[in-house]
Amino acid sequence: MTDIAKKPIKITETILRDAHQSLIATRMTTEQMLPIVDTMDKVGYHSVECWGGATFDASLRFLKEDPWERLRKFRDGFKNTKLQMLFRGQNILGYRPYADDVVEYFVQKSIANGIDIIRIFDCLNDMRNLQTAVKAANKEKGHAQVALSYTLGDAYTLEYWTSIAKEIEEMGADSICIKDMAGLLLPYKATELVKALKETVKIPIQLHTHYTSGVASMTYMKAVEAGVDVIDTAISPFALGTSQPATEVMVETFKGTPYDSGLDQKLLAEIADYFRPIRDEALDSGLLNPKNLGVNIKTLLYQVPGGMLSNLTSQLKEQNAEDKFYDVLEEVPRVRKDLGEPPLVTPSSQIVGTQAVFNVLMGERYKMVTKETKAVLSGEYGKTVKPFNKEVQKKCIGDKEPITCRPADLIPDELDTLRGEMAQWSEQDEDVLSYALFPQVATDFFKYREAQQTKVDATVADSKNGAYPV
Ligand code: CO
Repeated sequence: MTDIAKKPIKITETILRDAHQSLIATRMTTEQMLPIVDTMDKVGYHSVECWGGATFDASLRFLKEDPWERLRKFRDGFKNTKLQMLFRGQNILGYRPYADDVVEYFVQKSIANGIDIIRIFDCLNDMRNLQTAVKAANKEKGHAQVALSYTLGDAYTLEYWTSIAKEIEEMGADSICIKDMAGLLLPYKATELVKALKETVKIPIQLHTHYTSGVASMTYMKAVEAGVDVIDTAISPFALGTSQPATEVMVETFKGTPYDSGLDQKLLAEIADYFRPIRDEALDSGLLNPKNLGVNIKTLLYQVPGGMLSNLTSQLKEQNAEDKFYDVLEEVPRVRKDLGEPPLVTPSSQIVGTQAVFNVLMGERYKMVTKETKAVLSGEYGKTVKPFNKEVQKKCIGDKEPITCRPADLIPDELDTLRGEMAQWSEQDEDVLSYALFPQVATDFFKYREAQQTKVDATVADSKNGAYPV
């Protein structure tokens, strides 16, 4: 292969999912999003990422919103634009592996309610954890995009990435995403990686990164020059910092070049004008922390994702142990090595981070071991790229025999049991899936929903009484 054909770069807008997840703890409400949907629909984005990731949990838990209802409203509004979601492989949008029947049903319902593209990743890059979701997406005629969880370490060579890319293509994925959740992909490394992937597979390659370490725009530029097909950007008021590079900046950068996206800056300016007051309000209320907007150079030094840094800070604060921050930061890579050097992305980032905090606070490593650390060392999350530290494994799980098969092979179908448990709350087919992911949070939401309904019924009854006095 010599020259890579020049072509317009396609853009996925992340404002409705990752941008607000990264900057304001996923707190944007459906009501705040809907008024701009019409304008966004005119832009001609490759897709709009608007669902999945933490949005599902945050909607139910903090916003008291039905995430399925939000998705249906997006589908009504976006008549011409593909809707995209983020999906944690066998962990769906939750924190543990689920049975295949739940994964299949979730994919089916996501597509039925309006999702076009499902970006599926596994926190260990264990391809076996992606098979069920990819097959289900193929079956429902959705676009199955498989994401490589990008990370650094001895095991993560170009050969490693191209070999799993090949597996992904063979698995039946429609495209591949390089998912750089921590902003670790440096510009010239992007050139190498994108070139190597383009030479290995035929399906399109998308790049997702975060600005956390300050290199993201340069990384996109090099990746685009190397032939990447799609990049993820956020409209400027919710760009940069722990979020993505700004949409308008990327569009302007490639204007008049063979990579020209063709997107209209006037429309983008309207969208930015719409979101700017929401940003200002979040700054005023403290929901948007200015600390998250700068360059966090520790990300490059410690290779810890931005979201994980803020989790560690708050965990230590709760324990009145903020002075241990740097000890914990140095413990993170050691725990990661003990656990087979996985990428740090939900849920492995939380598992490694929490264990590192325990190791430091207890004054003895693995004196206290979380349930999740034990599960990882027992093979229950899947296979890691490197072997576990045998001594640590023995200390944590004793003589228990770790599993080596695809973890979900050992999980019996769950849907019927779940349906039985939540039958009294069910108002739509999708409710059982909300319950499967977050049993307690979903139940609280169902109760809230019922109480609201009772209130509405009472109001209607009152107004009727008023209209027809008895
Ligand atoms: Co992201």
